[in-house]
Amino acid sequence: MVDVILGLQWGDEGKGKIVDYFAPDYQVIARFQGGPNAGHTLYVGGKKVVLHQIPSGIFHDNTINLIGNGVVLDPVTLKKECDTVAAMGVDFRKNLFISARTHLILPSHRALDKASELAKGNDKIGSTLKGISPAYMDKTGRNGIRVGDILDKNFISQYIKLRLKHQKLLDNFSFSEDITKWEEEFFEAVDFLRGLQIVNGEYFVNDAMAQGKRILAEGAQGSMLDVDFGTFPFVTSSSTISAGVGSGLGIAPQKIKEVFGITKAYCTRVGSGPFPSELLDDKGEQLRKTGMEYGSTTGRPRRCGWIDLVALKFACMVNGVTQLVMTKADVLDQMDELEVCESYRVNGEITREVPYQMMRENIEPVYKKFTGWKTDITPIKDFNSLPVEMKQYIAYINDSLKVPVKYISNGPGSQQIIVAS
Ligand code: GDP
Ligand code: IMO
Ligand code: MG
Repeated sequence: MVDVILGLQWGDEGKGKIVDYFAPDYQVIARFQGGPNAGHTLYVGGKKVVLHQIPSGIFHDNTINLIGNGVVLDPVTLKKECDTVAAMGVDFRKNLFISARTHLILPSHRALDKASELAKGNDKIGSTLKGISPAYMDKTGRNGIRVGDILDKNFISQYIKLRLKHQKLLDNFSFSEDITKWEEEFFEAVDFLRGLQIVNGEYFVNDAMAQGKRILAEGAQGSMLDVDFGTFPFVTSSSTISAGVGSGLGIAPQKIKEVFGITKAYCTRVGSGPFPSELLDDKGEQLRKTGMEYGSTTGRPRRCGWIDLVALKFACMVNGVTQLVMTKADVLDQMDELEVCESYRVNGEITREVPYQMMRENIEPVYKKFTGWKTDITPIKDFNSLPVEMKQYIAYINDSLKVPVKYISNGPGSQQIIVAS
């Protein structure tokens, strides 16, 4: 069977930490979508590590980590990351596998991402500039190059053909930056990639399941950035929801068991796009400061706001979430009062549904207020010792979403997790 851990908001919910926490219960950890736009933070022996391409189970000796076919892979990022984890004692040559069907991010994809964002001006998506959208466009446009292709004698001619196609597009954008240096790095990294374990990922996971192994699928980004159900066009280019596990790994839907949905105790977003419960005042600043809300991949300040139960209920629905994990609860410790967005007022009408086009509607969040707990919860280890105000906050969320908050993360440390009772 396969369990899934994914983000329910706009990314950065703490997926890395939670995957790392659950990893000892699984034999295989598999990324099913996204690419180096992801930045998953974990603390290993007190040392902070941010993973972009490698699954977050890599630090556990007894887990195998698979980069699935639904991912887009930048060999340059992967190589750097392999060096980082190797310096921390990880034998990535033994426990990292890559699906042959995974699409490659070329240097010219990165250039196209940048050119496209520049051309959009004020309407830019706020992409991470990692080449994600151009790489997925080449996948669905049936032009992309896959990891398995690097083992083929025609790889260079395939590369040149796509590179020329990209050059025409770059010329159209009047983009003239020299990417020769990026290309040198790319080919070095491709050589490195050839030496790693490239497998038929779909057989790999299905054989593992047939042997009774437990698989954990690790999501990247968040449900509100999903290409179909997110705040389009301000989304990423992959299926970030549980449905993406099927196509991103080659796993049949009936094999999926638990879907762990992660939400922060509040909400953040990085990049452009709608965010109804965003706080543009001192409280937003307080959340950013206390939560150290700066992008793990780009360092950009994250936009902060209250938890949005309308968006969360929608995310629970489209993912079939069975258990909730609430992270960064400690960031609310010093708030006098908390607010929870429980419905939207759209053109004067109250709704609990996420509108089809959040941009065009005038969405006003409707809040319910809660008293803050004003207690340092970081040392707490059991649910019963949590402040009563916090239990009330969680009970309200359980009741509204009809999915239980089963785990509460009260600090960035790998063992700072409280199991709800
Ligand atoms: P991901 O992309 O979902 O893996 O999340 P990121 O790593 O981008 O961002 C989450 C940030 O919050 C990281 O810096 C984590 O170390 C930190 N973090 C995770 N859980 C907690 C928590 O419960 N409390 C606090 N204070 N920080 C946390
Ligand atoms: P993790 O896995 C937060 C956002 C970007 C931008 C939009 C499109 O760490 O949660 P892209 O580069 O994908 O074309 O950018 O999506 N974005 C993320 N925001 N966390 C992420 O990943 C993100 N990956 C992409 O900021 O708004
Ligand atoms: Mg992140």
